[in-house]
Amino acid sequence: MKRISALSVLVSVLISCSEKPVGQNNEKDSAYTQKADSVLNLMTLEEKIGQTVLFTSGWDVTGPSMDDNYKEYLKKGSLGAVFNAFTTKYNRELQEIAVEDTRLGIPLLFGYDVIHGHRTIFPIPLGESASWDLELMEKTARVAAIEASAEGINWTFAPMVDVARDARWGRIAEGAGEDTYLGSLIAGARVKGFQGDDLSANNTILACAKHYAAYGAAMAGRDYNTVDMSENELRTTYLPPFKAALDAGVATFMNSFNDLNGVPATGNEFLLRDILKGEWAFNGFVVTDYTSLNEMVPHGYAKDEKQAGEIAMNAGVDMDMQGGIYMKYLKKSIEEGKVSEADLDDAVRRILEMKFRLGLFDDPYRYLDEKREKEDILNDEHLEIARDAARKSMVLLKNKNKVLPLSPDRKVALIGPLVKDEKNIIGNWAAAGDRGGTAVSVFEGFEERVGKGNFLYAEGCKLTGDDISGFAEAVATAKKADVVVMVVGELEGMTGEAASRTDINIPGKQKALIEAVKNTGKPVVLVLMNGRPLTLEWENNTVDAILEAWWPGTMGGHAVTDVLYGDYNPSGKLTVSFPRTVGQLPLFYNHKNTGRPVNPGDPDQKYVSRYLNTPNTPLFPFGYGLSYTDFSYEVAVDKERITPADTLTVTAKVTNTGNRDGEEVVQLYLHDKVASITPPVKQLKGFEKVFIRKGETATVKFELSAEDLKFYGPDLEWKYEPGEFELFVAGNSDMPFTHSFELVAE
Ligand code: GLC
Repeated sequence: MKRISALSVLVSVLISCSEKPVGQNNEKDSAYTQKADSVLNLMTLEEKIGQTVLFTSGWDVTGPSMDDNYKEYLKKGSLGAVFNAFTTKYNRELQEIAVEDTRLGIPLLFGYDVIHGHRTIFPIPLGESASWDLELMEKTARVAAIEASAEGINWTFAPMVDVARDARWGRIAEGAGEDTYLGSLIAGARVKGFQGDDLSANNTILACAKHYAAYGAAMAGRDYNTVDMSENELRTTYLPPFKAALDAGVATFMNSFNDLNGVPATGNEFLLRDILKGEWAFNGFVVTDYTSLNEMVPHGYAKDEKQAGEIAMNAGVDMDMQGGIYMKYLKKSIEEGKVSEADLDDAVRRILEMKFRLGLFDDPYRYLDEKREKEDILNDEHLEIARDAARKSMVLLKNKNKVLPLSPDRKVALIGPLVKDEKNIIGNWAAAGDRGGTAVSVFEGFEERVGKGNFLYAEGCKLTGDDISGFAEAVATAKKADVVVMVVGELEGMTGEAASRTDINIPGKQKALIEAVKNTGKPVVLVLMNGRPLTLEWENNTVDAILEAWWPGTMGGHAVTDVLYGDYNPSGKLTVSFPRTVGQLPLFYNHKNTGRPVNPGDPDQKYVSRYLNTPNTPLFPFGYGLSYTDFSYEVAVDKERITPADTLTVTAKVTNTGNRDGEEVVQLYLHDKVASITPPVKQLKGFEKVFIRKGETATVKFELSAEDLKFYGPDLEWKYEPGEFELFVAGNSDMPFTHSFELVAE
């Protein structure tokens, strides 16, 4: 009998199962805690430390590789988890070492950055968030987990739930945009998708809320940079999506690289022990980001790596990703009394609990089913979901003279460096996604939709560089067409980690190409593929239509074609503001009013909070997106005043006044006129995406109570205050308030 089954027999005899869902505040007597303790009590100090060690397999690297002796560590039981390893063959090889060749045979976790799909790649998370479709986002995370687990992965380092308001920051691509309320709902949906209802199922995996915390507020949008803010701002804007992930049962957290108010997140006891494990009673485990533990030395927070390890373990970090510090120094730190073995036990218990929840002690090979590997990956069902997600993520930003949708009888010229692209189209964090031909390019999408040879093509120029030798051919091609569709944007590597930009224009000679083509007089439709808001003022003044396609993923080409030809009526709405210039950043809709707000009627007024050369407003606001049809709103509220015991009902009758069915994201925004902390000028407080047939009307109701009016007061108390409020319901955030009400004391 193999060790592991002996161990699991011993453990299961000890404990009856009173299983509780992950993320609940499980008391110490939970079944999993007891199971973990029964293993913990068998472990040597070295074996305990081994569980806190995570190394990359070297198969794929997502940061500076520190040490590739992972197999040696594995054999010694000095490794509790491996990341960047997948396929059933490879992972079985590693799992067998852990289970068969070590004293206790404790199975490994296998982690990977399955951020927006595993083999079937969905739109980047920022793009997908523009669908405002929570069910869809849960579904794509579910599919990602099915595919990842079919290749031996049982833990993903996702969802990234960092609120981001600065488009210079490349990692804005990985999250859900600038709004805390929407980002919190999306965080919960993605956690549920990855983890499903039962972690012991072999197609559900541990999720990881990252990067805890406030990483998206890096100064100047420069990755890894300093973060400094009030606790009020931290709790108001940056923590809620993490709490939403925890409430959805997220199994793990990843601390961020940045320091927060002078303390690196990796050693931040306030974040980890006071809030996460204390106030929120988190019962999962915390992993560092890639060598973020080591980085406390260059942060100037630890004099050496050993001290960094002591700070981190004392602060509540349970697992060291790639740093090798817990492995090298924890034993000595404990012997010196600088770290308590009780804290190590708590860390190991949390890790073991998750391995029990995954069912790895019952069957460590449960995620290594070759049959699933063949059947559950890149199948038709998943590809159709990817096409649907990509369509629903796209945002129509401009459509002058209804140049879109294209009619089949008009000759189209496809021009631009991303027309035939099958590499960048899957975005920057595409894990095991194939960049060598699996993805559908726009060119291929057109071939399927209008037939080979029934449209024209010219590349025009590359994504970057100064070569304009292709312009002449592009111009000549444009002249032969009735309408030009230009597919332009960024290199996928221009967004994501370590990819901040101080200039967020479309790069290279693409703008010049657009100008040359536009000068032919033909209508020009821009299809953008990018991972962040870009500065598009010139393009918006020059071309006839703009479709924001983000990095749409494996089925991107079909999805773009579906939207351009109206097979799908675009319904996406921006979840990040698009600035006019990079100088406006950070830019977000729910800003404060200041004491000297701009008077819209007098934009050139002196001595108000504005720039001399650019309006404060975005080019395209949060919540904005056009459709091929139009919607009109009729809004009513049922009371003029409410007490804390009342509910205000806001009713929106939304009519599709156009000649085509479509979906609308009906959004409710609220403004607290006066509060003991300066209030934002507006806040999203509710939304519903509704399908409305042409000529029909849908009724959407929002219920507001005093609970929805709460904020963190001067002493951080979570409270509402009586006073005047105003609201509106519309299809984007840049609309006037239409109704008001009063909250009165009891
Ligand atoms: C990277 C990223 C993090 C990722 C981790 C593992 O540095 O910051 O998001 O999950 O390392 O690849």
